Amino acid sequence: MRLLDDVALERSSVVANNAMNRQRRLTGSNGYGRDLGIDVAEVIRGRLAAGAESFRWLDLCCGSGKALLECAESVGDDRLRITGVDLVDAFAAGPRRGVEFVTASALTWEPGERFDLITCVHGLHYLGDKLKALAAVASWLTEDGLFVANLDLAAILPAGDRPLDRRLRTALRSQGFDYDGRRKRIGRRGAATVTLPFTYLGADDKAGPNYTGQPAVHSYYR
Ligand SMILES: C[S@@+](CC[C@H](N)C(=O)[O-])C[C@H]1O[C@@H](n2cnc3c(N)ncnc32)[C@H](O)[C@@H]1O
Repeated sequence: MRLLDDVALERSSVVANNAMNRQRRLTGSNGYGRDLGIDVAEVIRGRLAAGAESFRWLDLCCGSGKALLECAESVGDDRLRITGVDLVDAFAAGPRRGVEFVTASALTWEPGERFDLITCVHGLHYLGDKLKALAAVASWLTEDGLFVANLDLAAILPAGDRPLDRRLRTALRSQGFDYDGRRKRIGRRGAATVTLPFTYLGADDKAGPNYTGQPAVHSYYR
């Protein structure tokens, strides 16, 4: 099997796939609320109502960013600032009250600030070094910031015969991540310097469809 590095992967048709769903809304049956298991706007409203000076939400692999624009509109508070990052510049038009979109890879972009909420809705499936992304996210959270993302641990594989699954789950847990295998969701509360004892080897963009039905990327580690 030929493993791709992250630069080659980002040019792959699996990652640039036009058929993938980049249009999720904030709520509803195809919305961020359902996929993340949290009502993003309610989380934000709650913090602002409790007197927070500001609230920063980062959404990695944000697609069109419709959910972000809807959230800004719904919360309607200038203390809220939202950043959406995606490799592909296909961002929705519309009023951008407090919302900025960045065209960049989530694996190389550097925020230079901390976030109260970081999400990634069905984006980790397309990243090569998924564990690097998890470690980066942990370092970008505020002290009590929340991270939630969709992740299928079956897409993180060993190079050799020695299974990774149990070691991976143990390592993630020990570094403060919670993984819900049934819902294929990962999360954490609070910032940390995360060290995971695995070396990234490359990605397979020919892995085929994952549980979402779309072709996804397998990531290999030693
Ligand atoms: C299935 S879509 C989900 C988009 C959005 N979160 C939604 O639910 O509507 C996955 C997104 O990940 C983006 N993506 C893939 N690789 C990326 C990378 N390395 N950095 C940033 N975005 C990436 C794709 O361009 C695509 O917009």
